[in-house]
Amino acid sequence: MLFKSPGQYILDRYRNVFFDPKKELWLNLGLWKSASRYSIACADLAKQVAEMADLARGDILVDAGCGFCEPARFWLRHWEPASIICLNNNRFQVGVARWRLAEAQLGNRICIVECDAVRIPLRDRSADCVIALESAFHFNTREAFLRDAYRVLKPGGMLGMADLLPLSAATNQDEHSRMIRRHGKIPEENMYDRFRLERIVKDVGYCLVSMVSLRQEVFPGAAKLAKLLGANLLLPDDCVIGLTDAEKRTCLGVEWWERTSGIGDFVLLAARKPEC
Ligand SMILES: C[S@@+](CC[C@H](N)C(=O)[O-])C[C@H]1O[C@@H](n2cnc3c(N)ncnc32)[C@H](O)[C@@H]1O
Repeated sequence: MLFKSPGQYILDRYRNVFFDPKKELWLNLGLWKSASRYSIACADLAKQVAEMADLARGDILVDAGCGFCEPARFWLRHWEPASIICLNNNRFQVGVARWRLAEAQLGNRICIVECDAVRIPLRDRSADCVIALESAFHFNTREAFLRDAYRVLKPGGMLGMADLLPLSAATNQDEHSRMIRRHGKIPEENMYDRFRLERIVKDVGYCLVSMVSLRQEVFPGAAKLAKLLGANLLLPDDCVIGLTDAEKRTCLGVEWWERTSGIGDFVLLAARKPEC
């Protein structure tokens, strides 16, 4: 294989624990501000998105690109939304997540639908909050998802996103980089920087509440984790990740992402659908 992303290593290591209800199955790069274990870093990222998106008790929440529903279970535990509708177009992940939800007796609070997140199977104005946690860069296209999320949000409803983007408008267009993106299921149409993302969000009709780059808190930890997983047959949570200030400041590992896929930014965004 030409290229193995942290996500592919992680999926690989989960192979023997998909049906172990005691193991958590997160599938994002994690927020390595203070965490030294993978599931803590992932939960910290999920927490930050939920806080930015003003997730509240009793909300109807849509989780677009839900992985194995680990974020949904975390949000349910800590925010108590009324229900969570999880969307994933990967049949295998949906099957595993459904089994795990039934095992945990959560099937009445979290429902998972196998579908494309650009066509959300909900009525107009029916959701309080839509979150895409490190998934919208895969959607075909991110802009189509932003429009459909806008449709299903109630007036005043919130969108929260954590997403991977190129750092600058000049995306790496060499053939190898395009092939890596095809392989990683990243449509070329999503390859724009955070400034264009901000314009698109506003053009769709949202009011931007906040946007921050977390690249220094995300890429270095993910790079160290991938290195450890590549060298050992460990579960992600068995790896202990320590980062120095210099490694964070220089965004250790990001040059590998930029060279291979053209991606060098990690953005957290919250936006509101206006009341009228
Ligand atoms: C990097 S994983 C993040 C998973 C999860 N949010 C988490 O943090 O654990 C991206 C997820 O988006 C899903 N996905 C990719 N394209 C999708 C699409 N078009 N519609 C729905 N889900 C999609 C993938 O199957 C995967 O579950």
